[in-house]
Amino acid sequence: MKDTATTVMERCELLSNISEDAEGICRPYGCESMREVNKIVSGWMHSAGMTTRHDAIGNLIGRYEGTGGKTLILGSHLDTVRDAGKYDGILGVMVAVACVEKLGGEKIPFSIEVAAFADEEGLRFGTTYLGSSVYAGAFDEARLELEDRDEVSLARAVRDFGGEPDALVNGGRGNGDLLGYCEVHIEQGPVLENKDLPVGVVTGIQSQSRIQASFTGVAGHAGTVPMEGRKDALCAAAEFILEVERTAKAEPDSVATVGEVNVLPGASNVISGETRVSLDLRHPDDAARERLRDHLRSRAADIVASRNCGHSWEVRQENAVIPMDDRLTDILGKAMESSGLPVCRIPSGAGHDAAQMASLTAPAMLFVRCEGGISHNPAESVTKEDVGVAIDVVSRFIEILAEDES
Ligand code: GLV
Ligand code: MN
Ligand code: MN
Repeated sequence: MKDTATTVMERCELLSNISEDAEGICRPYGCESMREVNKIVSGWMHSAGMTTRHDAIGNLIGRYEGTGGKTLILGSHLDTVRDAGKYDGILGVMVAVACVEKLGGEKIPFSIEVAAFADEEGLRFGTTYLGSSVYAGAFDEARLELEDRDEVSLARAVRDFGGEPDALVNGGRGNGDLLGYCEVHIEQGPVLENKDLPVGVVTGIQSQSRIQASFTGVAGHAGTVPMEGRKDALCAAAEFILEVERTAKAEPDSVATVGEVNVLPGASNVISGETRVSLDLRHPDDAARERLRDHLRSRAADIVASRNCGHSWEVRQENAVIPMDDRLTDILGKAMESSGLPVCRIPSGAGHDAAQMASLTAPAMLFVRCEGGISHNPAESVTKEDVGVAIDVVSRFIEILAEDES
């Protein structure tokens, strides 16, 4: 019989072929490929002994009934960034399904829900955690008005995907019965590889701000408008982008990224009248992130003032630092020790659904080594052996919780 790690690797491979783009993996919220992936994963959940449902935003939830009234949630996300790897998010869902499958119908003293979130990356709407925020009951209604690049609102995207925008605010599952949430995720950094360890326990998730800034000038003819007196929105944005890099380099522990630039109208012989940029700013300290955010906002204002341009600044999302739960984290540590592994504790630079789930229940996370720490890149790679270790650790985690609950 095939071992569970092989099954997980094959499933990640299979899902990597389902994409909106002809080349590379790309599954933004609400797309046809997400619908297809949910259907396939739902089939695997059924084979593992779960019932399934979709909630109001399209998260896929599998449920394995236990004997007691309590519930443990396992999960991660099935959406991706553009030209993504095969494992970011997907691995956590596949390991969760595998751990339930391994129970083989055995009755344990609590139920398990596997949550496959419909949007963590925020590729389409410039935010993160849309899926887990709904499930956690923490969805912010103002987000319904966010628009994607084609000016489709989130409300319409939810409706088109078969969900109910009006039900998102109160669409949480509630927490009366919860034991906690445990998410397996690739590390997306080099720490485990440098320490030569297959898995590590996460201590917390650093804070982040997601901002959309728009620089406005005057569009004009590239051949006739003299250089003197131009109001070139792209040049203002370019100056800002370099300021972002300078600021983050000068502040220990901070990282800041402009990953998306939309030059309008976008023609080689037209001076840009408007250029929109994204800003992703992170820091392990909330106050430091807020100070950097305010500094960058005032630098953007200085830059446009010196160029006679205008700008707007929209904070799309902010998340404070999220510590993981001590008790569940200790249980993950015990599960690692009983698999003969040293307990390595590491902070997470990346954001995860666990950050949202922390508003619902106690969160814990297990990181899996990935080659070169490379992620958000098609070169993302994990080994079957490390995936096997992650399955063993989570299975042992479930066993220890079951001993505590019985
Ligand atoms: C999620 O991938 C993030 O941006 O941290
Ligand atoms: Mn992820
Ligand atoms: Mn990601």
